[in-house]
Amino acid sequence: MNFENILTSNNNGVVTITINRESKLNALNIKTLQEIKQAVNDVQEDKSVLGIILTGAGSKAFAAGADIAEFSNFSVDQGVEMSDAGHQVMNAIENSKKPVIAAVNGFALGGGCELAMACHMRVASENARFGQPEVNLGLIPGYAGTQRLVQLVGKGKALELLMTGDAINAHEAKSLGLVNHVVTLEELLPKCNEILDKIKTKAPLAIESVIRLANDYYAKDRNGYTNEIRDFGNFFGTKDFKEGVSAFLEKRKPGFSGE
Ligand code: COA
Repeated sequence: MNFENILTSNNNGVVTITINRESKLNALNIKTLQEIKQAVNDVQEDKSVLGIILTGAGSKAFAAGADIAEFSNFSVDQGVEMSDAGHQVMNAIENSKKPVIAAVNGFALGGGCELAMACHMRVASENARFGQPEVNLGLIPGYAGTQRLVQLVGKGKALELLMTGDAINAHEAKSLGLVNHVVTLEELLPKCNEILDKIKTKAPLAIESVIRLANDYYAKDRNGYTNEIRDFGNFFGTKDFKEGVSAFLEKRKPGFSGE
């Protein structure tokens, strides 16, 4: 698939999606978001893909927000449509069967912060900055930032960030639980690959299940407790469970097939 605003590459089963609008600090116009969704959806049924890294081109920005120029004259209806479409993109990432790591290489503001929060984990370079500055524009976050920020950092700190529009650096983001690791810019992609290399050795169905169940915790229409009982039982019928247990008992490394 040819994309206009993103680059994709596949390295040993890890697909890297790079937002490629460096001159606009990788601002997320509607086409870019649709392309990210397409790239994530494209690999969902591909058994050879075991992880996704999402990052921004250059060394200044992951994504500096939704494209302000694009939405500046939107009507109420267009605003609803934009937000609804954006939610669908974020949901596609959050519900990806493959683990998605945001490699945050600079500004992650507004929609950029929301995009990073939709990923399963965030690794930040030391120059990264996170924030939801929409209130400065007389606006609020529209890609579920009000929801995921509360989930990740708690309501009090989330409301402070949402109401002040303040940006925080990578180390503060880590201390709040918004970021998993902080590394140098040079170490950013290697660190993400290192995490995915570890996950790649585990049973793919188990990875898919823990992502789904963790998401269930926040989904009002799904009961993660009940679903865990069902999924746990189902694993006893999988080839990979038999392989994992046999490998342990035989003191060897397991080789998982995803079945
Ligand atoms: N939407 C559209 N364009 C954006 C953008 C956004 N969210 N963020 C940056 N850009 C563009 C700028 O307009 C500029 O384009 P130009 O060179 O054609 O004028 C280019 O990216 C570089 O940005 P600039 O502001 O010159 O860089 P800076 O280093 O001085 O400042 C920021 C960096 C991130 C502080 C600043 O760009 C900014 O505040 N961006 C908006 C952040 C925001 O409010 N995001 C939430 C949107 S809902």
